[in-house]
Amino acid sequence: MADWISFFDSDNPIYVNARHRAVHARLVALGIGHYIGKPGMSVLDYGCGEAFYAERIADQSARLMLCEAAPHLRQSLKQRFADNEKITVLSPEDAAHLPDGCADLIVMHSVAQYLTRDEAAALFALFRRLVRKDGRFVLGDVVKPDVTALTDAAALLGLAAANGFFLAALFGLVRTLLSGYWKLRKDAGLTRYSEVEIASVLAAAGFSAERAADNLGHNQARVTFVAKPK
Ligand SMILES: C[S@@+](CC[C@H](N)C(=O)[O-])C[C@H]1O[C@@H](n2cnc3c(N)ncnc32)[C@H](O)[C@@H]1O
Repeated sequence: MADWISFFDSDNPIYVNARHRAVHARLVALGIGHYIGKPGMSVLDYGCGEAFYAERIADQSARLMLCEAAPHLRQSLKQRFADNEKITVLSPEDAAHLPDGCADLIVMHSVAQYLTRDEAAALFALFRRLVRKDGRFVLGDVVKPDVTALTDAAALLGLAAANGFFLAALFGLVRTLLSGYWKLRKDAGLTRYSEVEIASVLAAAGFSAERAADNLGHNQARVTFVAKPK
């Protein structure tokens, strides 16, 4: 397995058990829901992964576009949401052809660390074209240079302790240590940004961005930026 998309397209150990998956889905749904300020919004979730929160977001909006690069994962999303007329599943190529100003809210959560700096800059430019003038782009889970794997492990254990899956999380950490995740994290690495750097990359794409008070999701060592078109 050579790259992150292949990793996320495989049977991976990101969630330690079903409880972890459900807790993650609830937190991300609450986090995205916080940015759905009015009825009738069009939402693009870029790099949505399994999107076990998607129905909750669709319930609060007029349209939810889920974009996923991993082909098998995307196919399973298409099957899961075939009956939900508010949800459309897109490839990155589909997203690149969406019309200008088609989204009130674009969310990209826990994806930037898997992109090269050039890929991120190109996506931010695409999002600037796709977001409405009064819309928002929410960039979640940005990994700062000083955040170590130990900090991430501690955040997972804290989430697990608070939600009744501490032992499973301990075993899960051992399992991921033995899995492709840590090897890939060591080899391919994660792309990290200081707050100044990410704000300047967003500015170069035509956004003015501010750090949100809370990160979307459980890991408060990472940060969320809310970007508005300049
Ligand atoms: C940790 S998951 C995040 C899923 C979801 N946003 C969430 O918070 O639950 C990371 C996502 O990044 C996507 N990804 C990784 N590398 C990518 C790339 N080069 N281009 C587009 N998406 C990528 C993966 O396919 C995966 O869906």
